[in-house]
Amino acid sequence: MDFQLNEEHELIRKSARDFAQNELKPGVIERDDKQKFPAEQVKRMAELGFLGMMVNEKYGGSGLDTISYVLAMEEISKVDASCSVIMSVNNSLVCWGLETYGTEEQKQKYLVPLAKGEIIGAFCLSEPEAGSDATSQRTTAIDNGDYYLLNGTKNWITNGGTAAVHLVMAQTDVSKGHKGINAFIVEKNWEGFSLGPKENKLGIRGSDTHSIMFTDVKVPKANRIGEDGFGFKFAMKTLAGGRIGIASQALGIASGAYELALAYSKERKAFGTVISNHQAIQFKLADMATEIEAARLLCLKAAWLKDQHLDYTLAGSIAKLFASQVAMEVSVEAVQVHGGYGFVKEYHVERMMRDAKITQIYEGTSEVQKIVISRQVLNAAL
Ligand code: CAA
Repeated sequence: MDFQLNEEHELIRKSARDFAQNELKPGVIERDDKQKFPAEQVKRMAELGFLGMMVNEKYGGSGLDTISYVLAMEEISKVDASCSVIMSVNNSLVCWGLETYGTEEQKQKYLVPLAKGEIIGAFCLSEPEAGSDATSQRTTAIDNGDYYLLNGTKNWITNGGTAAVHLVMAQTDVSKGHKGINAFIVEKNWEGFSLGPKENKLGIRGSDTHSIMFTDVKVPKANRIGEDGFGFKFAMKTLAGGRIGIASQALGIASGAYELALAYSKERKAFGTVISNHQAIQFKLADMATEIEAARLLCLKAAWLKDQHLDYTLAGSIAKLFASQVAMEVSVEAVQVHGGYGFVKEYHVERMMRDAKITQIYEGTSEVQKIVISRQVLNAAL
């Protein structure tokens, strides 16, 4: 077993770290405060190859492995979790889904500009009445001969306002349950596509989250992904990789908050000495460092399994469940280490604490991860 990162991985980590510290940190407080979409920063992520990291170079991607993606996600999430969710959805849910299951025509038309970051994508599964219970899709896509007629509403769609391309799950045959769900590539400019208002969120406030309405949208047959009825499995398989991305985001939020708490503890004086000399603070830092290291190993293990083409569903859910708990715990403790300063925006940790919460909710709540994990361990025990 080799825990050493290779030279290429170190280089990617450094370039993501430099980008995050130099280009994301300035303005991150204002973007959060004003809910400002990081358009310029997303453009830079595209130029640096962070929006199609794992896509083959022949389709405009960076041709890197999942370990590289985890390293970059951690560094970017340390500073701006709004940027990292935009990156994660584009990489894991949209590009990966299209590269793995799309036709050559779909790849040329949609994957190439998505991987280059010329456009960004969104993944539309959740509905007002189908969040965790994803098989209960109400959005319908009725086969009308030449095209499908798409009707319904999707909720909490990351990149909803900016994405040019949406992967939309819809029921084509209600009588077949989850086997009657299909996935479609839908363009935002098509007639019948409309946006709900932008959500006013607790965290990741720079990312734009919308509900999306489809009213008699004509979706060409060529835009269905995979065989008829493959849509639910497409969503599950895509989310299994997405969960590695969100686990890495949670890891980054935790390690970003920890680094700030560590630095602050060495500067702030109380009771005649810097607070890092007090055992109360030392124990907090020790707990944070331990939890973060464990979360990092889980993220990297899931990524390694994916790179080896081994089953990573269980490992991805374990990583997401654990890393998102760590993100919450560590960011709360980082605020505590900062005392009153931690409660004001200039010190960044209050934002990280707010950003951490969503990692326990999107791409499957912690409870959903426990469903996935318990089913796998119980099946393995049979
Ligand atoms: N890979 C392949 N197939 C899978 C699978 C996987 N990982 N997981 C399930 N399936 C298959 C099952 O084998 C089953 O197929 P068969 O009937 O042929 O055997 C089928 O899918 C149905 O599976 P289940 O019976 O397990 O389905 P369920 O109704 O019990 O639900 C669930 C399981 C895990 C709770 C699932 O519904 C789920 O993951 N829900 C959460 C959805 C989610 O993560 N939403 C996030 C939205 S996207 C988002 O947040 C993006 C963003 O903007 C940031």
